[in-house]
Amino acid sequence: MTDTTQTADERDHVFIFDTTLRDGEQSPGATMTLEEKLQVADLLDAMGVDIIEAGFPIASNGDFEAVSKIAERAENAVIAGLARAIPGDIDRAGEAVRKAKRGRIHTFVSTSPIHLEFQMGKSQEEVLEIITKTVTQSRNLIDDVEWSGMDATRTPVDYLCRCVEAAIKAGATTINIPDTVGYTVPEEYFALIKALRERVPNADKAVFSVHCHNDLGLAVANSIAGVQAGARQIECTINGLGERAGNAALEEVVMALKTRRDILPYKTGIETTSLVRASKMVSTASAFPVQFNKAIVGKNAFAHESGIHQDGMLKNSETYEIMRPEDVGVKSTSLVMGKHSGRHAFREKLSELGYELGDNAFMDAFKRFKDLADKKKHVFDEDIEALVEDEISVAGDTLKVISLTVIAGTGGPQKAIITMDVNGVHETREENGDGPVDATFNAIKAIVPHNANLTLYQVHAVTEGTDAQAEVSVRLEEDGKTVTGRGADTDTLVASARAYVSGLNKLAIRRQRSLPEALQAV
Ligand code: KIV
Ligand code: ZN
Repeated sequence: MTDTTQTADERDHVFIFDTTLRDGEQSPGATMTLEEKLQVADLLDAMGVDIIEAGFPIASNGDFEAVSKIAERAENAVIAGLARAIPGDIDRAGEAVRKAKRGRIHTFVSTSPIHLEFQMGKSQEEVLEIITKTVTQSRNLIDDVEWSGMDATRTPVDYLCRCVEAAIKAGATTINIPDTVGYTVPEEYFALIKALRERVPNADKAVFSVHCHNDLGLAVANSIAGVQAGARQIECTINGLGERAGNAALEEVVMALKTRRDILPYKTGIETTSLVRASKMVSTASAFPVQFNKAIVGKNAFAHESGIHQDGMLKNSETYEIMRPEDVGVKSTSLVMGKHSGRHAFREKLSELGYELGDNAFMDAFKRFKDLADKKKHVFDEDIEALVEDEISVAGDTLKVISLTVIAGTGGPQKAIITMDVNGVHETREENGDGPVDATFNAIKAIVPHNANLTLYQVHAVTEGTDAQAEVSVRLEEDGKTVTGRGADTDTLVASARAYVSGLNKLAIRRQRSLPEALQAV
């Protein structure tokens, strides 16, 4: 399906546009704190992502702050802020990316008949005018402007051609063709991108981009088909996080291009050995677990169970492996540190695992590591990762767990005494409950009254053994908004309290968002 009209240069580099912090973070439950977003953005920047869509600045002050901070610190990546086709959105996005070395405004408007009739109440001609005005406004603020036609794959191609032409004429430098509802299939998407590139008179003045949702499980296949038709930017997310069934997974598109270079003659600038680390980081920050059999980054992606496979692997790993685990950053679990390890060794280990902590965060993490090493015989890389991720996720939170005592057992009722830091003030409460977790959550609720319902409570062990750290995830729902919280500790109840409090912190962030949910979820 390769388009033979391209030059060799065009055929080569595919820009990776990561939207984990925007499309990914807007998916129900995946709210991230500012610290978590900064940490994810730093890694994306360091691993060679070309464009980071850092958020939707008009959505809330928190989103604006995250985009501005990421824009200020990014070393290499272009930082994009999303804006509806509304003047106030565009100004806000322009302001948020102003301090970036290279900033981009990404503005979008619906183009499909169903969206025009039911969502916008506008005619095709009116939308064309809006495109010209909003892209022009964006170009007056910044040189790098991306325009997206929302629900492009359900838009008649003749009309989509007119929209794309208008956007490029007004100065758009990237044209994104989203499969917003995950409806298209590879052949159809290939044909659409090819038709746009061939039929729009000024098509050669912009980079074409693909943005595919995974409702039919075709997001990666569709994205690659779009590239074969001449698109040179793929919009994707770590772990395929995103609205509904998610977006195309970054790790999958990147490894597909790398592994099948023989028939897909394209390159990305991604340092693939960082993929597993990025996956873990995003999974922790969003509290969305990665399924065991997830391609590239799942726990079982390189595990061989059957005798025949193991036998083949021992003789030649290529018998059953098309990629080398080390190329995506899979490390064999190593016993690393113990209670005699000092600060220097701990810092070395953190840097080997890819963490750069400031002095205060380092000292907090080191103290927690020492406490852990006192309680736990073997401290594995995974333990240190869980501990540091937990430390990063609480930095900047307004609610923190200070101490917890629980009285549990057959006698009942179970009782919890918790002390929390609430905006710098320590408060203590004691509550009973139906079991120790219930008592703990009741005590937290006594300090922080709220109406959120707990809809999920999940525990899993970070490593093996009864002294393993517990990682707890909770999901909270309030007024139709969902957030997920996560906490880790060798004590399951402490991990539970941390997870619940992390959920409450995220709920506070979610409450600030001013846009109607339907518009956030684009
Ligand atoms: O899925 C979609 O259409 C989007 C656009 C805002 C690009 O996320
Ligand atoms: Zn999307």
